[in-house]
Amino acid sequence: MKLRSVLITAFLFLLEYGVFVDDISGESVSVMEGDSVTLNTNVKTNQQENIKWFFNDTRIAQITGDLSNICTDVQCNEGTERFRDRLKLDHQTGSLIIMNITITDSGLYQLQIISSSSSSSEKIFSVTIHGVPAAERDEIQRKTLKEGESVTLDPGDIKNKDDVMVWYFNDSLIAEITGDQSKICTDDECKERFRDRLKLDHQTGSLTITNTRTTDSGDYKLLISSRNFIIHRHHSISIISEKNFSVNDRSVLLFVIIGICVAVLLVLAGLIGIWCRRHKSGISKNNPSDVL
Ligand SMILES: *[C@@H]1O[C@H](CO)[C@@H](O)[C@H](O)[C@H]1NC(C)=O
Ligand SMILES: *[C@@H]1O[C@H](CO)[C@@H](O)[C@H](O)[C@H]1NC(C)=O
Ligand SMILES: *[C@@H]1O[C@H](CO)[C@@H](O)[C@H](O)[C@H]1NC(C)=O
Repeated sequence: MKLRSVLITAFLFLLEYGVFVDDISGESVSVMEGDSVTLNTNVKTNQQENIKWFFNDTRIAQITGDLSNICTDVQCNEGTERFRDRLKLDHQTGSLIIMNITITDSGLYQLQIISSSSSSSEKIFSVTIHGVPAAERDEIQRKTLKEGESVTLDPGDIKNKDDVMVWYFNDSLIAEITGDQSKICTDDECKERFRDRLKLDHQTGSLTITNTRTTDSGDYKLLISSRNFIIHRHHSISIISEKNFSVNDRSVLLFVIIGICVAVLLVLAGLIGIWCRRHKSGISKNNPSDVL
């Protein structure tokens, strides 16, 4: 009797609100702390749609098709400021972008799309974040090297077979892997800049820049896209010209000091040598036996 009344209430609720769930699917992604992640809605919003995002049952973002109602984090739910300004919504698709992700963002993200055609769909995204010690993360995100050296940017084992992987240098596409296909430098600017100095590992997606130049300094961004997720990772690379490479190494300084000392000693030895010879010849000149 009780169950029946619950069912009737639910049915009346559905009638009243016209909400029917037509798709519930689960997707999971595993990313590294510091990455940014896009959770794709895979829809193009139209005027009537209302898209809501929940994290562990708290509403964290909402966007209506006519853009009349957009909120993220604390604007959507008074009191729970968890993401601060790290959440963004794509206005065309309603996809949610979580920037600079942290360990505590792990959990279930629920997407609800309510359209005026009385249907609603739901999707659950499970997000797992791997902690990376701050020092190690800094090592991955920021690299400084000398002109002429090589550098490899390795995404680790996050690539799945069907993912599309794209590398950008300062927002220009430089390399791409799609299925079995891979491309390096398809436009003239990239060819001009890197010539044959880029290498792409098809299996891992890692990018190597050989014989680096100071003009290779900048932001190297990696995008890994699957149907439901996009992972964004940044690497900042500085290449220092050989002549500006600072001498801050103590052993180098020690060598310089030793070098100066040796030089001074050599000069002194030379002077002493000259003085001795002069002195000797002076003595022999003054030798009375010579006068005779
Ligand atoms: C990312 O967040 C960490 C702390 O969680 C912070 O130290 C770091 O500066 C942030 N990075 C960016 C690029 O905002
Ligand atoms: C969110 O849910 C997950 C899984 O149930 C849990 O591990 C995590 O601690 C929750 N996070 C918050 C902030 O409530
Ligand atoms: C790339 O971006 C960095 C940082 O914004 C900048 O210093 C550098 O000049 C840019 N390089 C090129 C070739 O645009």
